[in-house]
Amino acid sequence: SQARQRLVIGNWKMNGSLADNVELLEALRAGADVSADVAVCVPFPYLAQAQALLETSKVSWGAQDVSVHASGAYTGEVSTAMLSDFNCRWVLVGHSERRSYHGESSELVAQKAQAALQAGLVPVVCIGETLQEQEAGETADVIAAQLKPVLALGPQAVAKMVIAYEPVWAIGTGRTATPEQAQEVHALIRAALRELGAEQVQVLYGGSVKAANAASLFAMPDIDGALVGGASLVAEEFLRIAAA
Ligand code: G3P
Repeated sequence: SQARQRLVIGNWKMNGSLADNVELLEALRAGADVSADVAVCVPFPYLAQAQALLETSKVSWGAQDVSVHASGAYTGEVSTAMLSDFNCRWVLVGHSERRSYHGESSELVAQKAQAALQAGLVPVVCIGETLQEQEAGETADVIAAQLKPVLALGPQAVAKMVIAYEPVWAIGTGRTATPEQAQEVHALIRAALRELGAEQVQVLYGGSVKAANAASLFAMPDIDGALVGGASLVAEEFLRIAAA
């Protein structure tokens, strides 16, 4: 099978300000001359700023969530068409923080992925088990259940997505999965993709990725890049991950 392109996406979560973002975005714009594809998913209010400062650079941008509805009486929601208005390329769907704080089900996450695809956006579908599930030996079952409604969209749809494996116990905790631990789950995800006929989908790892551990994670055969939270807020660190 042909090599998959390396991809490193920053997830700013609910961080930033118009004033502070300028320096970070300018640094990414200047420094992202790496072979990996580099992107940032910023809070909705900063999409225009990301577009203005990143267009004509190698860095692409996107959002952290999207509505399944096209338009109408959905107070507080943001549509795929609105993201396209700002030339977004990516949208995260099903981040564990959305699943746990907003009760998003795997079915809803699959609907969001489908809505994103229909608008020409690339959904980055986030999956991952909690600490409790991991300790109970349920990781493979949880991953399979989270993937099921997504894979049901079919090989042509899935081929246009990105999957991000983020073990919840590794998010923001400084406790990264070891490369071997991550690879084990990535191999399960790859097997499910292969069975569907979408083996070339990029599968990113997320959870306390830093410059110091990125290279060893990226050396694993089924890890195609990273979804980076905290370390994406520091330009130099994020660019070192992208260069790893
Ligand atoms: O989406 C990225 C993420 O949840 C990982 O966060 O801060 O552990 O890199 P962090």
